[in-house]
Amino acid sequence: MISTRFQEDVAEKSTTAVSVEPPPLLYRQGYAVLRGVVPIEVCQFVARVYGMMVANNYLALNDGQVERGYAAYGLPVTETLLDMLADPVAAAAGSAVFPTYSYSRAYLKGATLAPHTDRPACEISCSVTLDCKGADFWPFRLQDFSGNKQEVALYQGDALLYLGPQVSHWRDRFDGDWQVQAFLHYVRQDGPNTHLRFDRRPRLGAPQAQGRRRVVTGPARMPSGPR
Ligand SMILES: [Fe+2]
Repeated sequence: MISTRFQEDVAEKSTTAVSVEPPPLLYRQGYAVLRGVVPIEVCQFVARVYGMMVANNYLALNDGQVERGYAAYGLPVTETLLDMLADPVAAAAGSAVFPTYSYSRAYLKGATLAPHTDRPACEISCSVTLDCKGADFWPFRLQDFSGNKQEVALYQGDALLYLGPQVSHWRDRFDGDWQVQAFLHYVRQDGPNTHLRFDRRPRLGAPQAQGRRRVVTGPARMPSGPR
């Protein structure tokens, strides 16, 4: 809705209106799909790092949001993805962005994710599928700006862009065996959340700032989990 209002303002103020670019798809429907935005080889690399970390107990099961999953805030490997995808995300959003933070999770069979929205640091969220075993895909579900429920199939290397604080999103039960997902979050450089650059950390890769842990708002009133 932000871009629509912006477009209206531009139209009202313009006396010699030539043409006004339509808002990006992301702002017209609340989400947009980016196919193949991460090369398969990069997905495989990150997923193998993730598998090694899980096997060696670097990551804890159940972060309070997903019981059947191993999750982590700001791993160097996902913070690097966060940095590398800033340009394609900015292109899809139609404005420059600041990265805020990355999060990631390996989902196990039986995992679910209740409907929720995200905190302001997730103004623009990018959910990337890095690996999926035991299922063709696991639908990402959301309610778009028209109020319609959408089901999006994301394959390895695909990403879903969505406006996390505005768009309720969830996943039904996972019937596959293993899925690794990275969640990359950004704020617009010309938006109201620039103070959340790096999620109030001094730089990418730094630990999560104190007092900023697992804040989620939305209809599900999730008790924890930053995404
Ligand atoms: Fe979320």
